[in-house]
Amino acid sequence: MTAERRALLQQRVTQAFIKTYGTEPAILVAAPGRVNLIGEHTDYNDGFVLPCAIDYETMVAIGPGSGSQVDVVACDFDSDRDSFDLTEPFAKQSTEWKNHVRGIAASLIDKGLSLLGANIAIGGNVPQGAGLSSSASLGVALAKAFTELSQPGALNETDLALTAQHSENHYVGCACGIMDQLVSARGLAGSALQIDCRSLATKPIPIPDHMVIVVIHSGVQRGLVDSAYNERRIQCEQAATHYGVAALRDLTIEQLEAGRAGLDPVAYRRARHVVTENARTLAAGAALAAGDQDTVSTLMAQSHVSMRDDFEITVPAIDRLVDITAEFLRGAGGGRMTGGGFGGCVVAIVPKTKVAALETWINQHYQTPDQAIAQLFVCEPSGGVSIL
Ligand code: GLA
Repeated sequence: MTAERRALLQQRVTQAFIKTYGTEPAILVAAPGRVNLIGEHTDYNDGFVLPCAIDYETMVAIGPGSGSQVDVVACDFDSDRDSFDLTEPFAKQSTEWKNHVRGIAASLIDKGLSLLGANIAIGGNVPQGAGLSSSASLGVALAKAFTELSQPGALNETDLALTAQHSENHYVGCACGIMDQLVSARGLAGSALQIDCRSLATKPIPIPDHMVIVVIHSGVQRGLVDSAYNERRIQCEQAATHYGVAALRDLTIEQLEAGRAGLDPVAYRRARHVVTENARTLAAGAALAAGDQDTVSTLMAQSHVSMRDDFEITVPAIDRLVDITAEFLRGAGGGRMTGGGFGGCVVAIVPKTKVAALETWINQHYQTPDQAIAQLFVCEPSGGVSIL
């Protein structure tokens, strides 16, 4: 399934490249999307996350261009085209995908790399608007492709991730943390990655053989994400300032309670989510490593409640989908909303033997806002960015 999906994508992107530029690409790069098992909105608070790279990916085919010119064709947007000159300053485009390409080129130049002109074809199979980080996978794949064409090996995986985050923050206009890009760059097959978002140290946590990761799309497209996301970020920073800490990662639950006088109640609840979520993420990593599925399930359920009540980033359809999933699993697996929030997907860790029955159950009990059945993706924990 995974190999077949990749082969189809590779064929699609390679053919688009040949059709557009009349020659074979020099390099093909693939970078995965991700699903976060637990640790939501903790990354930009210097905290802990537990994502997993998945076998849905973005592919970039690249070859030398003429002079400092970059030409791009986007297979997933009706073969839409862009072209720009590397010597010109970054100019924001009204079409979002173009800002990712221009932003990565600009970010690599900011980092001191000298880039060569390039011909590029892009395609992917990460569901868009689902909270599975199609943008991060695009950014990491592009950063790797540009680097390998111009200065092979000049950046390690962490630098590729930081470059892709820089592009999002400074050029695309999303104040995201480092989680998505880092796991897309450094993911490990078979494992989730516990990341300390302050030091960027990672610890692989193998997914037990008898369990699988299932992603269930609520059918609610993520709306108003950027403004709500940025607002949460500012509230977290306000809370950190109130407590006199560099980031909420530095606060214990005892300090949170003892010092809450004078803090706006909303900012307090935002901080409580972050502080408790950091603790849950570390505990879930340890429980997953020990094969303690009961604890993982409990922590995932608590994480969802905290996102719903304290961080207020869930929507009713997602809450219902999480409840329906929990009713089926009855503690034999865990489920929660995953990603930035306001729609998107639920992630569940489920015994392999129950996947088919879970799908039937969800189809019987949940309908998307368009009265359709929910799409389920069984995801394999995958490796990070690679050259094919
Ligand atoms: C988005 C951001 C990440 C992270 C999550 C929430 O995916 O890109 O940096 O903050 O939301 O956990």
